[in-house]
Amino acid sequence: MQGYDNPQYWENKYSSADHIDEWYYSYQQLKSQIIHYFKQTDTVLCVGNGTSTFPIELYNEVKSELVISTDISAIATQQMQVHASDCVKFQVDDALNMNQKDQFFDIVFDKGCFDALSTSENRDDVIKKFVSEIQRVLKQNGKYIMISHGKPYTRLGYFGKQWDVQIIQISERAPSGERAFAYVCSLISNKNNM
Ligand SMILES: C[S@@+](CC[C@H](N)C(=O)[O-])C[C@H]1O[C@@H](n2cnc3c(N)ncnc32)[C@H](O)[C@@H]1O
Repeated sequence: MQGYDNPQYWENKYSSADHIDEWYYSYQQLKSQIIHYFKQTDTVLCVGNGTSTFPIELYNEVKSELVISTDISAIATQQMQVHASDCVKFQVDDALNMNQKDQFFDIVFDKGCFDALSTSENRDDVIKKFVSEIQRVLKQNGKYIMISHGKPYTRLGYFGKQWDVQIIQISERAPSGERAFAYVCSLISNKNNM
């Protein structure tokens, strides 16, 4: 995924006809393994959502209190606006400097954003900033659920002792032929002592 950390890459991609609507898996392919983590009382943030219909399908099924879906791409966000409602909002936002309140979300969901950012030349610094932003916006005991093709040894090092990480291998194969992972990262403590 070289260059996938570059916002201009995504803006170009979403303005052309060849962009992928759904990375790795659809909501329907994932739901049997992760749906039980989402509750009706939850506030949910979907980061780097692009043009995925995951937040809409999630809301239609779980009726979570509020689902905010963000992406750095203004074009992708504009394309998703037709699906916006009082409970499902689409916003342009930088996952590395989120315009979201502290300790507001029960769940942050990510399908491919960590993976895109991890292609950065400054990967360690970028991912540490990303994880610290997720930690800031999550309530204590909140969960960061990441769908990633990255193997555990490439991912676990970014989560310090304030996180409890459960790894689930997705039963279906992604279009690449691989079976990706769901990392269910529970925030045990909001104190930034990584
Ligand atoms: C691999 S795509 C995944 C898109 C979508 N989640 C899906 O599953 O189809 C990565 C997404 O991350 C977004 N992205 C990249 N850098 C970002 C950043 N700094 N802040 C927010 N979104 C970002 C891209 O615009 C792109 O939509």
